[in-house]
Amino acid sequence: MKGALSRANNIADLRVLARRKLPRPVFDYIDGGSDDEVTLRRNASAFEHYELVPDVLTDVSRIETGTTLFGQRVRWPLMLSPTGLTRMFHGHAELAVARASAKHGLLYSLSTMGTTRLEELAEAYGGPKVFQIYIFKDRGLTAEFVARCREAGFHGLTLTVDTPVAGNRERDRVNGLSLPPRLTMKSMLSFALHPAWSLPAVTGSKFDLANVSHRVDALAAGPISLFDYIGGQFDRTVTWRDVEWLAAEWNGPLAIKGIITPEDAKRAVDSGATGIVISNHGGRQLDGAPAPVDQIGLVRDAIGTGPDVICDGGIRRGSDVVKAVALGATACSIGRPYLYGLAAGGESGVDRALSLLFEEFERTMILAGVNDVAKLDCRHVRRPQELW
Ligand code: FNR
Repeated sequence: MKGALSRANNIADLRVLARRKLPRPVFDYIDGGSDDEVTLRRNASAFEHYELVPDVLTDVSRIETGTTLFGQRVRWPLMLSPTGLTRMFHGHAELAVARASAKHGLLYSLSTMGTTRLEELAEAYGGPKVFQIYIFKDRGLTAEFVARCREAGFHGLTLTVDTPVAGNRERDRVNGLSLPPRLTMKSMLSFALHPAWSLPAVTGSKFDLANVSHRVDALAAGPISLFDYIGGQFDRTVTWRDVEWLAAEWNGPLAIKGIITPEDAKRAVDSGATGIVISNHGGRQLDGAPAPVDQIGLVRDAIGTGPDVICDGGIRRGSDVVKAVALGATACSIGRPYLYGLAAGGESGVDRALSLLFEEFERTMILAGVNDVAKLDCRHVRRPQELW
C-alpha cells in the first residue's frame, strides 16, 4: 500500500487525501449535500449523541461479526451504498470498488447511475451484489432492468424513493458541474491544477451512464446540465402501487431506500419489500430530514424482527455500526467513506477505508464486551435524556 494511504488513520484522513487528489467540482460533488447541509452534518453528528454501554469480564477472545443481508452471508454488518458517476472519481470506477468489497466479504450495490454496465460488473465480480433501481417515467426501462439483473445474477434490488426531484446541491451549481464534465476555461483550470486527475478519462465515450445511455437520447446531443438530465428521468407520480408492481416483477429480495418514518417502513413491507434502507440520500435530497440512526428503533418496532433494516448515512467509524446494530439495525451502509478511499487510491484506497472501519468495529465490539453481533442489543447503547 502506498505511503499516504497507509498513513491514513481514519475516514477523515482519507477525505483529506481525496480533496487533494480531485479537482474541486468533483470533490464537492462527493462531499456536498443539499441546501444548507444541515442533514448532511446531522447524519454523522447524531451518532455522537449515543453512548456505548459496555459489559466487562466477558470472553472476547473471538468475535463473531458475520450476518445475513439480502439473504447473503456477509463478513460484518456493512454494505456499500450505490453511488453514481463513479468514473469521475477514479478511472477504475465501480470495478475497483466491487473488488475491494468482495475482498472484505461485503455486499456491493451498483447504481443505475453507475458508469459500468451491470453485466460487465456481474461478470468481473463474484461477490454478493444488489442493483439500485428507480421507477422511471418509462416503466418499460425499469422492467428491462429487472430482467437484466435477473439474467446477470444480482442477489437483490434496492429501490430508491427519495428522488422525485434532484436535491438542491448548491456546491454543484456554484462549480458549474455538468454531465459529462465539460471542457470550459474554468474546468480546464481546475483540472490542470490536478495532474493526477485526467479529464479525457472521464469525458467522451469513456464516461457514460453505462446502464441507461442506450435509452437516453438526450445524452447523444452533447453535455447537458446534470440537473436537467436527472430531472427529466424522475417520475413524481410514483406511489406504493408501483412498489407492489416492482416487488411482483422481481419476486426476490427487495429493499426500499429512502424510508424515514415507521409508517412508511410498514407500508413498504406491506407492499412486498423484504428490507428497509433508512436513508436521506446522505443529506443530498431533503435538507432538514432526520438522521437515519435516530429512526432505527421506531422503524424496527413498526416492522418486527423479520425484514432487514439498514442504516444509511453518516457512518464514519466502526463504532457507529456497533451503535446502529445495538439500536436494532441489521447493518449499516456507506457511500462517501468508500468514495474518499477510491479517489485517494483506487481499489487500494477502498480497501483501506473498509479495513479501517472493520478494525474499529471489531475493537469496539471487544471493548463493549460483546462477542457476537447477534448479542448486540439496546442494553449496549443509550441516549442520555438531556441530549434529546
Ligand atoms: C450517492 N447516493 C446515491 N443513492 C442512490 O440511491 N443512487 C445513486 O446513484 C446515488 N449516487 C450518489 C453519489 C454520491 C457521490 C454520493 C455521495 C451519494 C446516496 C448513497 O447511496 C447513500 O445514501 C449516501 O452516500 C449515504 O451517506 P454517506 O455514507 O455518504 O454519509
